[in-house]
Amino acid sequence: MNTLHEPNVKALLHDLFEEAARVDGPVRARLAAMSPEERASLLSRAHSDWRTFYGTTARELYLPVSPETGVLLYALARARGARAVVEFGTSFGLSTIHLAAAVRDNGGGVVIGTELDSKKAARARANLEKAGLADVVEVREGDALVSLSDRVPESVDLVLLDGAKSLYPAVLELLAPRLRPGAVLVADNADDAPDYLARVRAPGGSYVSFAVGPEVEVTVRT
Ligand SMILES: C[S@@+](CC[C@H](N)C(=O)[O-])C[C@H]1O[C@@H](n2cnc3c(N)ncnc32)[C@H](O)[C@@H]1O
Repeated sequence: MNTLHEPNVKALLHDLFEEAARVDGPVRARLAAMSPEERASLLSRAHSDWRTFYGTTARELYLPVSPETGVLLYALARARGARAVVEFGTSFGLSTIHLAAAVRDNGGGVVIGTELDSKKAARARANLEKAGLADVVEVREGDALVSLSDRVPESVDLVLLDGAKSLYPAVLELLAPRLRPGAVLVADNADDAPDYLARVRAPGGSYVSFAVGPEVEVTVRT
């Protein structure tokens, strides 16, 4: 069974990725045209003032995981038999659909999504409704450091980190006591989160971690 292959889910994901490319395209093109110094300065502002960055510059943008990372999330969640998943950074819900499909195919459970922007959270919920997956997802609005500070399952199987990059270490710290041995963390754009990488790659630590391609870090709680 693979819910991602259901015609309505497949068509919805196709449309959403197309729409994301259309909406995000001009901004991506502007980024690509920037000098390394300009790009570094924008990134540094996004790190230090993430509320302004996500509340203004990136407010209308999808910024989804790639379709390949979506399938990776589904595959890892199936391999883990994941029934309790936490997502930091839901946006319009593209990654969430992949995670929810896996939880559904594993027999049910919950994906806790988190989204700073209430309009984006509403759009994510609507997309999950369209996918027929809303019953396994709870999208929490506001800063994830607040919304994940309580009512997180005792034992979490999988975490996606895809919100403000400078908060990856703090979200890891918040969720670490809940990660069951063998739990998987997937961090998108992990190269923009050096403090997080230092933590999960620390020799002798509680994690084994490796890069999957240039942007994604997969980490297993030992
Ligand atoms: C890269 S996008 C997420 C894309 C999404 N995972 C997907 O694949 O479609 C990052 C999202 O994280 C949200 N975000 C950033 N910081 C956050 C925070 N502290 N708490 C909750 N959401 C946050 C932003 O508003 C933005 O929509």
